[in-house]
Amino acid sequence: MLSGEATMQLYDKHILPNLVHMACSLRPAMRQREKVVHLAHGRVLEVGIGSGLNLPYYDADKVNKVWGLDPSPEMLRMAESRVHSVKFEVEFINLPGEQIPLQSRCVDSIVVTYTLCTIPDACRALQEMARVLKPGGELLFCEHGAAPDANVQRWQNMINPVWKRIGGGCHLNREIPGLIEQGGFRIRELQAMYIPGWRPTSYNYWGRATLAESP
Ligand SMILES: C[S@@+](CC[C@H](N)C(=O)[O-])C[C@H]1O[C@@H](n2cnc3c(N)ncnc32)[C@H](O)[C@@H]1O
Repeated sequence: MLSGEATMQLYDKHILPNLVHMACSLRPAMRQREKVVHLAHGRVLEVGIGSGLNLPYYDADKVNKVWGLDPSPEMLRMAESRVHSVKFEVEFINLPGEQIPLQSRCVDSIVVTYTLCTIPDACRALQEMARVLKPGGELLFCEHGAAPDANVQRWQNMINPVWKRIGGGCHLNREIPGLIEQGGFRIRELQAMYIPGWRPTSYNYWGRATLAESP
């Protein structure tokens, strides 16, 4: 019989990537992507590209290249299967956001969707994003996180330990705007609401941010 650890390894490798892909493909989340991804331009870094669900939402007339970074080879394999349908260059990087192997100040836009919840050291990853973003460039984000209502927050905090284990490290209760600002950005536009779905998982934040030192 498999040990608990071996069962979790099988789950993380073979079941979780498909579950994540399915959850991220739900219509309300797809509508959220549509709101931010088309704003990207030039040389783009997408952190936590997952199964590549954002690829069809980039504006091919504005984007020259997308670096798609993700530490999961299983997620990247799914993303690779979508590349044939896009008209710009895509280069995958199999590394975590805490270790972005790009030169400083070389990307025009950074896209991060439903990933700041999962990155173990999200502040470090945001600092790396700030390092590689050109002055005047933008971080475009769409994330779920801590809800404003005390009763929903109580559920988020209560379920979080189990949710993290079965959800590949996903936290339900991260304070997304504060995290982005701690990572070296200033938020220029922010919207938030519950999207359709289970309330502890469905409070969404989306918007755009620039480097904190930008005028
Ligand atoms: C919920 S999925 C979202 C995927 C994709 N961004 C989307 O919107 O469909 C979270 C993604 O974060 C990735 N991830 C986990 N740890 C990470 C890290 N340290 N740095 C960057 N991405 C990470 C996972 O492999 C997974 O693909």
